[in-house]
Amino acid sequence: MQNEAPAVEHAFDGDVHVLRIANPPVNTLKTAVRAGLLDGIRRSLREGARAIILIGTGRMFSAGAEMTEFGKPRQPPSLPEVFDAIETSPAPVVAAIHGHALGGGLELALACHARLASPEAVVGLPEVKRGFVPGAGGTQRLPRLIGAEAALRIIVSGEPVKAEEALKLGIIDAIIEGDLEKGAIAWVRQALASGRSFTLARHRTDRIEGQDMAAFEQTAAALLKRARGQESPQGCVNAVRAALTLPFEEGLLVERQEFQRLVQGEQSQALRYIFFGEREVARVPGMPPDVKPLPVERAVVIGGGTMGGGIAMCFANAHIPVTIVEANEEALARGIARCEANWQRTVAGGKLSQAEYEKRRAFLKGTTDWDVVKDADIVIEAVFEDMSVKKEVFAKLDRLARPGIVLATNTSTLDIDQIASATGRPELVCGMHFFSPANVMRLLEIVRGAKTSHQTIATAMEVGRRIGKVNVVVGNCDGFVGNRMTGKRGFQLERLLLEGALPQDIDRVMEAYGMAMGPCATGDLAGLDIGAAVRRARGTVAPIADALVAAGRYGQKTGKGWYIYDEKRQRHPDPEVERIIVEMSEKMQVRRRKIEDQEILERLLLPMVNEGARILEEGIAARPVDIDVIFVNGFGWPAWRGGPMFWADRMGLRTVRDKLAHYYELTGDPNLKPAPLIEKLAAEGGSFASMGAKQAA
Ligand code: NAI
Repeated sequence: MQNEAPAVEHAFDGDVHVLRIANPPVNTLKTAVRAGLLDGIRRSLREGARAIILIGTGRMFSAGAEMTEFGKPRQPPSLPEVFDAIETSPAPVVAAIHGHALGGGLELALACHARLASPEAVVGLPEVKRGFVPGAGGTQRLPRLIGAEAALRIIVSGEPVKAEEALKLGIIDAIIEGDLEKGAIAWVRQALASGRSFTLARHRTDRIEGQDMAAFEQTAAALLKRARGQESPQGCVNAVRAALTLPFEEGLLVERQEFQRLVQGEQSQALRYIFFGEREVARVPGMPPDVKPLPVERAVVIGGGTMGGGIAMCFANAHIPVTIVEANEEALARGIARCEANWQRTVAGGKLSQAEYEKRRAFLKGTTDWDVVKDADIVIEAVFEDMSVKKEVFAKLDRLARPGIVLATNTSTLDIDQIASATGRPELVCGMHFFSPANVMRLLEIVRGAKTSHQTIATAMEVGRRIGKVNVVVGNCDGFVGNRMTGKRGFQLERLLLEGALPQDIDRVMEAYGMAMGPCATGDLAGLDIGAAVRRARGTVAPIADALVAAGRYGQKTGKGWYIYDEKRQRHPDPEVERIIVEMSEKMQVRRRKIEDQEILERLLLPMVNEGARILEEGIAARPVDIDVIFVNGFGWPAWRGGPMFWADRMGLRTVRDKLAHYYELTGDPNLKPAPLIEKLAAEGGSFASMGAKQAA
């Protein structure tokens, strides 16, 4: 039997020892790594090492703790035991960071005597985003190293810090150009020769002594404002506060308590479910393993409107040359100007450098000459949502584009197969459904048509990955997954208003649940006229929303919709809207009553869950988690709630079935008739999570 490769390699350069973490692909600190580090340090010291360097093999230093070990019996040695060996080592231990040092990975580096990094390295403590706090001393060592408020910002936001900034803050001691291991050995030798003294973070008091606690609390309060209902940011504040008010060892205990409490909580379970789900969706059931994506070096986007412009920006942001094709010069100039304005806002906000903006801008071109399609490796169409226009465009693309390249459509409602039928290459046609604003929203629904090939899907996914999207492959149907599900709550929204709720009640409940924006405010932002046009085309009605549109209330663009807007675009409840609603209740003879918040929440979420179940039955989505990833990344669903299917599982599918049946009886809304899958799973005592995956069809 072959021996498993060691998780930590031991190398020597004279009396400088090097411990290389080798747990591909991201060097998580699994048990074998912790044991390897501990053994390596002990052995180095036995063998008389004058210094020890910790470094990662492959892509990075370390992405942190092995989260799949959470909740299982803990295997020794623990990280604190490893840190103890480092901190009591008479020879300095120096972390040499390339790629990422995140979470436990950074905590390991923080326990060292010094930290070096490659210029492209990134460090951070993203634990807050998984619903807990750094649990291996990060909240105690980082403030001692860089000061309380700077540490608080990093720990509460979970945002990564680039090497240059990390150097300025004092997280790292030096940036090493060129070969990191060689450079680190040279740096250490130089430090030893110059008699440099190393002070461990745990022994430093200079950065936190005399901390103005009022200023600290103020910073904390400002950071917590953004947390809304999420608990882990408060846990981070508690732990960092302990670093300022308690001795190191006691602070560690506070941190450990916060960690234990949060990691077992439902929010952290939801966040980790989404974290792993976002990786799971990259594995497409039914995709043969040998399928390779087609090479893509330049893209063409047809239509430079709201979506086309945003899509083109995604490519330019990823430094992939992209050309927008517009119908005429005027529309083209408008489209390009909108992209530029978008970028410039980011520059003004300090989130993009002028130099990087210019670089990105140079990757974007525009034309009205369709000849550029001949050079494209992929084309994404984003013209008007009209089947005859789309078909005309695709017939033209098929004539002009090189054979063998993917032609994608950004349609949000139209049938992919019909669009594909306008070409002689339906196997190369798919949907690439972006969400507005396309340059910001991470979700990309990749729609498989009846004839779409695996290679086409693989190519769209690879392109999506390169432009920073979370790809979810879905089947071809009206609204695909996200819009199809949200579309199903419209009936209940109207009913709730008729029965006694007001728009502000509905939004308050949904925002308290954690949604970025309630459905009424979202409608005002998108434009109520758009929904009305869709209803007209489908022959459906929504009496109250239709009455608002008839009264010229189109939403923010007319200054009033479900709300009235002031000059700062702040929304306010409008008595006029209440009057329209109450009159409609009278007209339709619905008795108004006080509706509890819980009922509002359930009646808006359950129709989505029910439709989600139908989507799973039909194989439109491969797995429940695909649906949840869609809602978290494209619909402002709070990740710490886990998404609609996760929510339903937590409630229990028997309860879900009973509540659906109850509200179905109450309102007669066909969307609430329990879906067969829910009936089946409820009868079996099953859950969505217990289902297997199938290919999205
Ligand atoms: P838009 O009206 O802002 O942009 C469409 C652009 O296409 C216009 O600039 C128009 O001049 C151009 N165009 C029309 N026909 C053309 C042709 N034959 N050749 C070249 N250019 C042409 O529309 P928007 O909102 O960008 O929507 C585009 C597509 O994206 C639609 O299919 C829509 O359903 C879809 N979509 C829209 C979302 C949204 O939130 N607005 C979200 C996701 C998808």
